[in-house]
Amino acid sequence: MTPPLTLIAAIAENGVIGKDNSLPWHLTSDLKRFRMLTMGKPMIMGRKNFQSIGRPLPGRETIVVTRDPGFTAEGVHVVYSIEAALARATERAKAMQAQEIILAGGAELYAAMIDQVDRMKITFVDLAPDGDTFFPAINWSQWEEENRERPPKADKDDATFSFVDYRRR
Ligand SMILES: NC(=O)c1ccc[n+]([C@@H]2O[C@H](COP(=O)([O-])OP(=O)(O)OC[C@H]3O[C@@H](n4cnc5c(N)ncnc54)[C@H](OP(=O)(O)O)[C@@H]3O)[C@@H](O)[C@H]2O)c1
Repeated sequence: MTPPLTLIAAIAENGVIGKDNSLPWHLTSDLKRFRMLTMGKPMIMGRKNFQSIGRPLPGRETIVVTRDPGFTAEGVHVVYSIEAALARATERAKAMQAQEIILAGGAELYAAMIDQVDRMKITFVDLAPDGDTFFPAINWSQWEEENRERPPKADKDDATFSFVDYRRR
């Protein structure tokens, strides 16, 4: 059986999630939370997001989705379809004894997999930056808010933010 699929994203007030294949802000608190939420789990990500991160993140297993049969990268699982990503993530979750699979973006992968997502852990960033990549349109009425936190801004955070968890109704 496929473990639950949890989407993690940081979204600005204007829907922006990326610019020039990078994040348009620096939020140390959010990076720490991402690490905590993903540790020990398989993570599915698009080839562009993977290249923006630039390396496999330690303590997790990265499954990179691409249509390019020539794409290679060390230390990650490369797959060529969403179905193959879910199958590989399911297999790796079992091997890692992980209780969930993470969908780590970017926008193209969020859009392609949103119908299969069970939970979302969203960081709403209190900025409206320029960007070229947006979180896909979502029918929010299908999502029930489970938890909301308003942590204090750390010195190294560019902005204030909220952490909000959703479960599919
Ligand atoms: N704020 C956040 O939480 C957050 C999170 C993640 C990423 N980001 C940002 O988002 C941006 C990247 O997002 P993006 O939408 O441009 O790219 P992406 O979703 O990371 O990657 C897109 C690539 O994934 C592959 N792909 C997508 N659908 C596929 C399918 N059905 N089958 C096989 N391969 C598939 C293709 O790779 P090939 O071209 O190799 O075929 C496609 O070009 C960056 O700016 C990044 O910093 C932000």
